[in-house]
Amino acid sequence: MSAGGTELGKTLRRGRNSPRARLAVLLSGRGSNFLALHEAIERGDLGAELVVVLSNVDGAPGLEAAQRFGLATAVVDHRMAADRPAHEAQVLATLERYEAEWICLAGYMRLLSAEFVGRYPHRILNIHPSLLPSFPGLHVHEQVLQHGARVSGCTVHLVDAGLDSGPIVMQRAVDVQDDDDPQTLAARVLTAEHETYWRALRRLLEDPWRVQGRRIQFGPR
Ligand code: GRF
Repeated sequence: MSAGGTELGKTLRRGRNSPRARLAVLLSGRGSNFLALHEAIERGDLGAELVVVLSNVDGAPGLEAAQRFGLATAVVDHRMAADRPAHEAQVLATLERYEAEWICLAGYMRLLSAEFVGRYPHRILNIHPSLLPSFPGLHVHEQVLQHGARVSGCTVHLVDAGLDSGPIVMQRAVDVQDDDDPQTLAARVLTAEHETYWRALRRLLEDPWRVQGRRIQFGPR
């Protein structure tokens, strides 16, 4: 049994009328999953407050969208840091300055160290465009098509120090069509991603849960 879920159950879980979770989004590029989270918050579907959108890439489209919304943003360029620990220390300092409680990775193209993950145990989420544990890593849709898989989808998971390897919160399946190419499949999966990420976070915020081994167990003990 992991302490993370249990502690969260006591301190951070929120019902629909409770104070909102302080959420940071980390991204490196387009930011459509960030936009979907933002829209869910604006609609009142997700009881969270976006306290900062952070990117390692200055000028990332997702970061510019956040600026247009008037959200707090930060650039922590990994190329300006001496090494990975120095970069992560700057990212952590920013997250602490904004008192982030939860972190959603949304196309953040940096692996997080065990030390980083340990600072936010079971409070960092990632979305990956396949049904994990199939097809982790990059060039996912190419891999899916090359393998001849008939079903793909997306996965929201807690982040550990591995590559796309933490406990799974929620998945949604998407059919692979005979005439799919990587772009058409990516587009269909992305639509599912946008609907799944906020639902996964909302479930973690609202329902009791705990981590047992690799499995997240929802519901009262
Ligand atoms: C998404 O496909 C996500 O699953 C993966 O990176 C992509 C980011 O897209 N981790 P966007 O920047 O959110 O549009």
